[in-house]
Amino acid sequence: MEAGHAAQNVYLQAVSLNLGTGVVGAFKDDEVRSILNMSDEENPLYIMPVGKI
Ligand SMILES: Cc1cc2nc3c(=O)[nH]c(=O)nc-3n(C[C@H](O)[C@H](O)[C@H](O)COP(=O)(O)O)c2cc1C
Repeated sequence: MEAGHAAQNVYLQAVSLNLGTGVVGAFKDDEVRSILNMSDEENPLYIMPVGKI
């Protein structure tokens, strides 16, 4: 639920800055964890690319 709340704020901030965003929930958790140097106790839940539209 908290990830959803945070994601909504990213959507709202993107709109206010005239940027686009979206949520991606399907990815390889281990590869994301490795690229972002996350510990094994951290779990990636969402990826939200933000960019000009
Ligand atoms: C919880 C959640 C997870 C999502 N995960 C993915 C995903 O892994 N891959 C994907 O292409 N779209 C995913 N979507 C959908 C996209 O965020 C987006 O809404 C969809 O691609 C339609 O985009 P469009 O309106 O620009 O065509 C997800 C949406 C939600 C709500």
